[in-house]
Amino acid sequence: MKDFIAGLPKCELHLHIEGTLEPALKLELARRNGLELPYASADEVRAAYAFDDLPSFLRIYYEGMQVLRTEPDFYDLAMAYLRKAAEQNVRYAEIFFDPQAHTSRGVPFGVVISGLRRALMDAEARLGVRAQLIMCFLRDFQAEYAMATLLESLPYKEWIVGVGLDSDEKGNPPVKFAAVYERARQEGYLLTMHCDVDQDDSIEHIRQAVEDIGVNRVDHGINILEDQRLVEVVLERGMGLTCCPISNGYVTDSMKAEGIRKLMDLGVRVTINSDDPAYFAGYVGENLEALQASLQLAPEELAQLERNAFEITWLPRHVKDSYL
Ligand code: HPA
Ligand code: ZN
Repeated sequence: MKDFIAGLPKCELHLHIEGTLEPALKLELARRNGLELPYASADEVRAAYAFDDLPSFLRIYYEGMQVLRTEPDFYDLAMAYLRKAAEQNVRYAEIFFDPQAHTSRGVPFGVVISGLRRALMDAEARLGVRAQLIMCFLRDFQAEYAMATLLESLPYKEWIVGVGLDSDEKGNPPVKFAAVYERARQEGYLLTMHCDVDQDDSIEHIRQAVEDIGVNRVDHGINILEDQRLVEVVLERGMGLTCCPISNGYVTDSMKAEGIRKLMDLGVRVTINSDDPAYFAGYVGENLEALQASLQLAPEELAQLERNAFEITWLPRHVKDSYL
């Protein structure tokens, strides 16, 4: 089964590039940028990763990314992920980045996206992994800052396929960003947003994302099972969910494998992804292995999960078809 999963052509649709910053690279970038970190080794960095919910994870995630300063830093970050992706037979990835996590500490938008873009181009040419960028807004910042970021992105529009929404969901519902999403749609961006697992208002947030904002897909979104009507809306529209089993196990009480099973049985286009693999210790291959071990999935079911992912990618139809 391990070999089958390793050989399966994969597609990753829920991956925060800042969440791929491995401890060794974190130390190297700190050294390169003349920053003092309170850790002497990669093991020490990892030993400090203590989280059991979304806010405790996010604190460590934002602290970690402060070593990212220059265009080559962002290039090296993305290239390291894309090399790992190629090793795991990931053929295509849609990659989130969090510009406000960098602009808010003085790193220009252009520095961030130029480094990421250069890595994507090199990876396609040298590794055969294709990827596109999704710009995420931080939902615990004001909507005005998201709008300013959206406007700042417009000169780079050709490099960004869509927008997302992440960070701390508590008290930050989708409708807070209704105007930002409307403008993003007008600009030609495709739309997704996080509706994280087991939040205070998960089902209402999913309803807002699907019905009020009209997103093209939902990130996480497993709590949709609480409302049969919404499941039917998603089925009718052929919408996908980007689920992240290992991540779920860190920020909630379980991987939510049974929920994923139910969604698969209902015919929802569920996909399996890694979220923040450097923090949750599992890339997409390990996520598929963990889910398979929990649900005893057959090879055909694993292949179907990858077909779901290729089907809901934001690629032109003819490119999508070349993967299916
Ligand atoms: N949820 C919300 N914000 C995030 C996540 C996540 O899973 N990963 C990185 N930022
Ligand atoms: Zn995420």
